[in-house]
Amino acid sequence: MSDENILLRAIDIHKSYAQGVGELEILRGVSLDIRQGEAFAILGASGAGKSTLLQIMGTLDRPNKGELYCEGRDLLAMNDEELSRFRNAEMGFVFQSHHLLTEFTAVENVMIPCRVGGESIKAAREKALQLLDFMGLADRRDHHPNQLSGGELQRVAIARALVRHPKILFADEPTGNLDSHTSGKIQELFFRLKEEMKLALVIVTHDLTFATRFPKVYRMKDGQWQS
Ligand SMILES: Nc1ncnc2c1ncn2[C@@H]1O[C@H](COP(=O)(O)OP(=O)(O)OP(=O)(O)O)[C@@H](O)[C@H]1O
Ligand SMILES: [Mg+2]
Repeated sequence: MSDENILLRAIDIHKSYAQGVGELEILRGVSLDIRQGEAFAILGASGAGKSTLLQIMGTLDRPNKGELYCEGRDLLAMNDEELSRFRNAEMGFVFQSHHLLTEFTAVENVMIPCRVGGESIKAAREKALQLLDFMGLADRRDHHPNQLSGGELQRVAIARALVRHPKILFADEPTGNLDSHTSGKIQELFFRLKEEMKLALVIVTHDLTFATRFPKVYRMKDGQWQS
């Protein structure tokens, strides 16, 4: 595949935290390209640096050293306001727990990124309802998070991540809190979404069965790719 298909390019990413007089190195020179429409899983022991890398690739955190580009744009040169606009338009995130706002209904939660992005209530609502329908949640749209099951909550969270039609979806242990049957259904949903929405999909998981369903699996150890 040519370089033209590269959506996101991370080069030699380092991340460390001050620890006493020294430094605790978390990422030790990680490079990664994400191409249009590709899907891969990232595996690795707890503490290896997977979430840290995902947060940096997703511009939720900044590295101490390294470069990050999205279609020619230098993301690390952007200020926080530019970055949050960029993130809202181009990237979706799903975490182990859903992070839905409890005072809002399912459809209102899904509408939030559209409203933040300046879309009208009507347009946001239409898009949110369409996605919830696609997720099989049409009849749950007015439920609050405390009225939804674990799998339903995660489907709403996925809808919220996708409502702005991001080019890349990052998911950090998205099935970590689910029983195996529900996890299987959420896995199916990810693959269906990837096909239908032409998304690039980056999943961090501890679930080997899930990981091996991806055409490509990266393994991380002590803040580096394991060859
Ligand atoms: N703010 C912080 N200050 C200091 N150390 C941190 C901070 N955030 C993360 N770490 C450390 O960085 C290391 C990597 O954390 P990270 O969350 O990326 O691991 P992970 O591979 O996602 O693990 P898990 O599979 O358990 O989610 C851990 O050892 C963690 O303690
Ligand atoms: Mg993690």
